[in-house]
Amino acid sequence: MTEEIVKSALSKVMYPGFTKDIVTFGFVKDIVINGSDVSFTVDITSSAPEVAQQITDEATTELKRAGAANVNVNIKAPVMPRESSSRGKNIAPQVKNFLMVSSGKGGVGKSTSSVNIAVSLAKMGKKVGLLDADIYGPNVPRMLGVSDVKPEVNGNKVLPIKAYGIEMMSMGSLMEEGQSLIWRGAMIMKAIEQFLRDILWSELDVLVIDMPPGTGDAQLTLAQSVPVTAGLTVTTPQTVSLDDSRRSLDMFKKLNIPIAGIVENMSGFIAPDTGVEYDIFGKGTSEPMAKEFDTEVITEVPIEPAIRTGGDEGKPVSFVAPESESAKRYMKAAESIWAFIEDINEKGGVDNAAVQPTTPPGVSACSTGGASQAAPQQSSGGSCGTGCGCH
Ligand SMILES: Nc1ncnc2c1ncn2[C@@H]1O[C@H](COP(=O)(O)OP(=O)(O)OP(=O)(O)O)[C@@H](O)[C@H]1O
Ligand SMILES: [Mg+2]
Repeated sequence: MTEEIVKSALSKVMYPGFTKDIVTFGFVKDIVINGSDVSFTVDITSSAPEVAQQITDEATTELKRAGAANVNVNIKAPVMPRESSSRGKNIAPQVKNFLMVSSGKGGVGKSTSSVNIAVSLAKMGKKVGLLDADIYGPNVPRMLGVSDVKPEVNGNKVLPIKAYGIEMMSMGSLMEEGQSLIWRGAMIMKAIEQFLRDILWSELDVLVIDMPPGTGDAQLTLAQSVPVTAGLTVTTPQTVSLDDSRRSLDMFKKLNIPIAGIVENMSGFIAPDTGVEYDIFGKGTSEPMAKEFDTEVITEVPIEPAIRTGGDEGKPVSFVAPESESAKRYMKAAESIWAFIEDINEKGGVDNAAVQPTTPPGVSACSTGGASQAAPQQSSGGSCGTGCGCH
């Protein structure tokens, strides 16, 4: 065997999909000949395994035809970009990434932020779902203008509702309007699980999850059911809200959820007539808290009347007024969140094994008593009693 013979044999191997061979492309390197044994490297640009296989098979055939005894093909290919590398329990495996949107207290703009960030991620070309996990006060359907739409049922699964380029599901879409239920701890856990398992979500790049306020059963159940890729805390500049937000950030830490950042909402005021921005509650007060939790304020969203009317009328500002300052601030958040998610996956993803329940099935480690005696849960906090590890 000589190098000439090897090269001439390999020049009969076309690069899959091209009319040019692997020698002419300059992909063949490090040829080592030992009697009639040949080994060499092919440095290719595709990460598809079938390309590597085809080259290996054809190169081996051609070299054996030219008289080689043993052929060792070493394929060097770029690593396939990882869309999700998370491990652990995942009851919605077709969803690549999960973003948990949380706040320590109600009314700070969690749902508004979830809706506009979901729409912004879709504008970036991502396949996005939005799960309204606020069982107590579901208002995402109204914010997306689909409060009258009832979801279609397919077998024993429910199809998500489509609006503004995203898929959405909410307790509000499953219940009659104005109906209210008293949710018990075990029912909340069941509802969250069904939202993930029994809704026919597409192959989503990311599912944005608008959580109920607080740090309770819903948060823990979600973290145990799917590997949550990133957590986002929504806060307002007032200190009371900041104290609550600290609890929300602390919960992410305890649940091993990487913190994508903080949205400082109602940060300043943009006058609709002049467009001038005023500082009302004190902007930038979330910054020290961000540092404390080794994260950052990824956007500051001003109070803008268009945000509220957009929410009330079911026309998200990020969709209907993409040039507005608020839409730009939500887009900034979406870009930052996506970069964070990609980074998490490149570093090996998340794993929720450590937060799995140690209590018997059906009993939440976060409930004071368990399924059998779950006491009626009062609406707002969803607090989980003491010693549950959620505070
Ligand atoms: N930046 C903003 N500018 C103007 N209005 C806003 C802004 N953010 C939120 N709002 C309005 O404030 C109200 C509360 O917001 P939202 O429902 O998003 O809060 P939430 O944290 O989800 O509340 P809850 O805890 O009740 O679920 C809504 O009427 C919404 O339209
Ligand atoms: Mg809400």
